[in-house]
Amino acid sequence: MSFRSCLSIVLAAGLGTRMRSSRAKVLHEIGGLSLVGHVLTALRSASVERIAVVVGPQMEDLENQVRQLVPEAGCYVQNERLGTAHAALAARPALEAGADDVLVLFGDTPLVSPETILRVREQLAQGADVAVLGFEAQNPAGYGRLLVEGGRLVAIREDKDATLEEKAVTFCNSGIMGFCGKAALELLDAIGNANAKGEFYLTDAVEIANSRGLTVQAVEGSEDEVQGINTRAQLARCEAVFQARKRAEAMENGVTLQAPETVHFSHDTVLGEDVVVEPNVVFGPGVKVQPGARIRAFSHLEGASVGTGCTVGPFARLRPGASLSPQAHVGNFVEIKNATIGQGAKVNHLSYVGDASVGSAANIGAGTITCNYDGFSKHRTEIGAKSFIGSNSTLVAPVSIGPGSYVGAGSTVTDNVPGDSLVIGRGRQVIKQGRAKTLRARLQAAKDGRK
Ligand code: UD1
Ligand code: CA
Repeated sequence: MSFRSCLSIVLAAGLGTRMRSSRAKVLHEIGGLSLVGHVLTALRSASVERIAVVVGPQMEDLENQVRQLVPEAGCYVQNERLGTAHAALAARPALEAGADDVLVLFGDTPLVSPETILRVREQLAQGADVAVLGFEAQNPAGYGRLLVEGGRLVAIREDKDATLEEKAVTFCNSGIMGFCGKAALELLDAIGNANAKGEFYLTDAVEIANSRGLTVQAVEGSEDEVQGINTRAQLARCEAVFQARKRAEAMENGVTLQAPETVHFSHDTVLGEDVVVEPNVVFGPGVKVQPGARIRAFSHLEGASVGTGCTVGPFARLRPGASLSPQAHVGNFVEIKNATIGQGAKVNHLSYVGDASVGSAANIGAGTITCNYDGFSKHRTEIGAKSFIGSNSTLVAPVSIGPGSYVGAGSTVTDNVPGDSLVIGRGRQVIKQGRAKTLRARLQAAKDGRK
C-alpha cells in the first residue's frame, strides 16, 4: 500500500450511564489499561499518524489520560450529545485539515486489532469511499444491522428503527468506519436526525453515500474483537477475551502456564522464554520477567522486573520498583517494594524489604523487616554483598550494613555497620535456673488462697 495519510477520530463523549459509575466509561480498564488506551494503542500500531479524540464536557480526567498516552492527539469537546455523527463533527478542524483516510472508532470498543484497522484502510486504498467493519453477532439486539443486497452494503439500520425483518439480520455494525478523506466531511454534514432517537447517526453515511453513487464496502471482523462495552457485565466479558489473548500469546512465546485460566495479565506484561508461571498468579501493570525465571503459585507482581533464573513465591508480592537480579530468590510471604535484590541473593521467608538495596549473594533471614518509614518520610536501607541478616531482624532506615557482615538473629539495627562486622543488636540472654518452678508454686498458692 503506497503511503496514505490517516486521521482517526475516536468517539468518547458518551456518558456511559449503564456503567453506573462516576468515571467516564472509556476510563474503565481492561488488563490495567483504559478502554480508550487500548484503542489509541491499536491505532498507533496501525501507523495512524493523526488522532482526534472527542470527549464530553467536564471530562478533564479523560483528556489528561489521552494527553499522557498520545501527547500529539487533539481533544475536541462535544458539548451536547446529539449522536455519533454529531460527535465526529466535533472534530471538524481536524477533518478540514484533510487526510487520505478518515477512520471513526468508538472509545468503548477496546479490543480491535491493528490488523483489522489496516483491513478497513485497505478497502479505502482500493477505492471504497466508505468502508464499514461488521461482524456476525450471537445476539444482535442493540446493534445497528448491516443491510446487504447483492453483495452491496446499502444501509445500516439502528436497532430502534429496524423493522421486524431487519431485526432478524445478525450481521452488525461494529462502529468502526472508514471514509475516503475527500468525501468524509460532506457525508457527515449531510446526515440528519429524523429517526427514533432524534440523533445524528453516523451510520446514515452509508445510505447517503449510496444515493450519491459512491462505493460502500463492508469488511467482516470477529465478534471477540469488536464487542462494545455498555455495562459492567460486558466489561468483564471483554476482560475475559483479552486475558485469553494474552495467555495464548505468552504460550506462543515459550512461556509455560501450568493453569492458564488462573493467570491474570496486564496489557504490558512481558515474559521471556522458558518462564514458568504456576497457578493463580497476578501480573499488574509494568512487569517484565527475564527468561528461565519461575513465578510460583499465588504471587502478585506489579511494576517489577525479575531477572533470569529467579524464583518468586509462592505467595510473594513484588511491588513497584522491585528489581531482582539474575538467580535471586524471593520466597513465601515476602514483600519487596522499590528495592533491588542482587544476583543470587535470597529473601526466602516472611520479610518486608522496601526502599532498599540488597547486595549479591546476601542472605536475608526469615522475618527481616526494613523499617523504611518514620511516619513522615521514607528512608533507605543498604545491605552489602554476601552479608547475612539473622532471622527476625529489624533494620531501622536510614541504615547501611557493609558487605560480608553478620547480623545476629533478632537484632534491631539502628547504626551503620562497617563491612565484615558481627552485630548483636539485642539484649544479652539471662537464665535463672529453677526460677520457673518457684514462679509456678507462687502463682498456684495465690490461686488457692482466693478459693
Ligand atoms: C453504535 C452504533 C451501532 C453499532 C454500535 C456498536 C450509531 C448510531 N450506532 O450504537 O450501529 O452497532 O455502536 O457498538 O453510530 N458518542 C459520542 N457522542 C454522542 C453519542 C455517542 O461521543 O453524542 C460515542 C460514545 O461515547 C461511544 C460511541 O460514540 O463511544 C457509540 O455510542 P453509543 O451510544 O454507545 O452507540 P450504540 O447505541 O452502542
Ligand atoms: Ca455502544
